[in-house]
Amino acid sequence: MKIDINTYMSHFLDSNLIEKYNGRKNEIFKKLDTASMNGWLTPDVSCVSDILRVRDKVLSHSKCLVVIGIGGSFLGSCALYSMFTPYFKKRDFQVIFAGTTLSSSYMSELLEYLETVDFSINVISKSGTTMETSLTYSAIKNVMEKKYSKEEILERIIITTDSVKGNLRSEVKEKGYESFIIPDNIGGRYSLLTPAHLLPLSFCIDINELITGYQEGLKLKDEAFSYAVVRRSMFDQEKVVENFVTYENNFYYYMEWLKQLFGETEGKEGKGLFPSSMIHTRDLHSLGQFVQEGNKILFETFFYIKNMPSCMVDGRNLHDINLVVEDSVIAAHVSGGVPCIVLELDNLTPKVIGEVSSFFFLAAAFSGFLFDVDPFNQPGVEVYKSEVRSRLGE
Ligand code: PA5
Repeated sequence: MKIDINTYMSHFLDSNLIEKYNGRKNEIFKKLDTASMNGWLTPDVSCVSDILRVRDKVLSHSKCLVVIGIGGSFLGSCALYSMFTPYFKKRDFQVIFAGTTLSSSYMSELLEYLETVDFSINVISKSGTTMETSLTYSAIKNVMEKKYSKEEILERIIITTDSVKGNLRSEVKEKGYESFIIPDNIGGRYSLLTPAHLLPLSFCIDINELITGYQEGLKLKDEAFSYAVVRRSMFDQEKVVENFVTYENNFYYYMEWLKQLFGETEGKEGKGLFPSSMIHTRDLHSLGQFVQEGNKILFETFFYIKNMPSCMVDGRNLHDINLVVEDSVIAAHVSGGVPCIVLELDNLTPKVIGEVSSFFFLAAAFSGFLFDVDPFNQPGVEVYKSEVRSRLGE
């Protein structure tokens, strides 16, 4: 991957700001190296063989895996799963991501569907106490208990959680379910290379490729810092929204993953950029108007994928047209006063996305430090949770 923070950006930048933030590089590199929640810099992938063993076991008796989790225990695997599974082709094995809603119509339809298919569960929660996850797990376990014997259930439940704390770990100890650990020193949104995501992803990609790419991305510290410095300077110049733009529909959940990563990392103490996303060309026909001529609060980060599978339409390769549109949109937005960053990828593979993802981890952590907030906590998420607890009388 290559990140271009100059071509469509430099004339918008204030060199004094760039110099000021670049001057903090050594201090911030040290902060990251000594942070207690930096386990994602040295991921332990010794779990891979166990993950593949459990995947094969699930494939031997199930046609469907229900992955139950939310936030950092959901978005990474869902993002890559939707990127690397076919849009339309019928699949022999299905992964369903549940636990992200309290919608009763969704839940009753899901439960009804699960009565008709052989399935297993992977419940994922670091704390073991998240309401959406717990309620969904409970509801689906009821279906399992009606459908399968105790011995069969033992083969069909996999729990991914903290190594010692929480209800789910106690359940593993009591029942003897298969289990995986989310390490103490890795927070939810930085947990892509833990079993929380590697197990669900082992059903659709070669996770070793993802790991190789991720390790490559960790070498891009300088590039990630430069990107973080530009983002930080944009904030000072009242460009308070970073709009991530893709030309591929299967990036939808990857954009959601990015929004969580940056939103939870730097949105504290009244600071931080608001991360938004658009899928082109669809959104050019709606929010494109705002970007071109509306309030100048935005800068944009474009994903630019050079090679995609070819599809000829009227004698022209559709991807070539897509890239011409992307180049034209960047030129138009720059002329409309919107600074643009371009993240160029050769193609779309698990290795490339692994590299991009650890690059974004570095950039998010550096951005948090540049805002002088803790990049690894999310105290604001607790506020609504305690309000809910008190209203439910818990
Ligand atoms: O990034 C985070 O820490 C959060 O989004 C959590 O991942 C999310 O709230 C789910 O938490 P848990 O894994 O404890 O169920």
